Amino acid sequence: MRIVVLTGAGISAESGVPTFRDADGLWEGHLVEDVATPEGFERDPDLVHAFYDARRRAAASVQPNAAHRALARLEGAVGEDLLVVTQNVDDLHERAGTGNLVHMHGELRRALCTSCGARPVWEDDLATRPPCPACGERMLRPDVVWFGEMPYELDRIEQAVAACEVFVSIGTSGAVYPAAGYVALASALGAHTVELNLEPSDAVVPFDDARSGRASELVPAWVDEILEARERRRVSGC
Ligand code: OAD
Repeated sequence: MRIVVLTGAGISAESGVPTFRDADGLWEGHLVEDVATPEGFERDPDLVHAFYDARRRAAASVQPNAAHRALARLEGAVGEDLLVVTQNVDDLHERAGTGNLVHMHGELRRALCTSCGARPVWEDDLATRPPCPACGERMLRPDVVWFGEMPYELDRIEQAVAACEVFVSIGTSGAVYPAAGYVALASALGAHTVELNLEPSDAVVPFDDARSGRASELVPAWVDEILEARERRRVSGC
């Protein structure tokens, strides 16, 4: 059974990473156009570096939660039949053990050189304008996809969504495209669609199964169900 899981900020909320649009979310107190657009970076690179340097430091100090670990457990059982597509720029999925993973909005733990295009792993601050390890130019920016920019690996994601039998959306408000449109694609092509979110999102089409609650409880329970169903099919031979 091919499964695509789309995750958003809600899966990392219980690890202590703030979401964007909830009360006290990251976009409260920050104008998106100031810290998450190429124009904002051009206007005030110091402000943008300070914002992402702080997020990079904060992300390094938190731990994966039961929801991240449950998805890693699922991958351990089904292997490449599971693709996790995350909109999150933290590295909690990989630290929990997920390997088949796409960071469609980039990663805090990488820098992007605007001179040579290198994307080195980066754990320190960028505000000090360090040189790019590949070309030496001091032109590094956070490797995070900003509004108006193209998310990463869209072809791979769309192919996987189009081919999946189960599409699961976890902890995302469905406010940002193209990620918000994947449920419609999966649904139109016959996949069973599931939402695991604190509250029902503003999805473009209704999910077949929408469950409300905390990711740390809903995700392990859903993974148990999938693995039990898989085991039943194996035993019955179909
Ligand atoms: P949002 O902040 O828009 O939505 C987070 C969702 O998680 C909401 O629907 C919450 O109800 C839900 N949530 C909160 N706590 C939860 C919990 N403990 N368990 C389950 N669900 C919970 O974040 P995203 O949908 O990820 O893009 O935002 C999408 C994109 O918008 C981000 O990747 C970022 C942002 O602007 C860029 O920066 C390009």
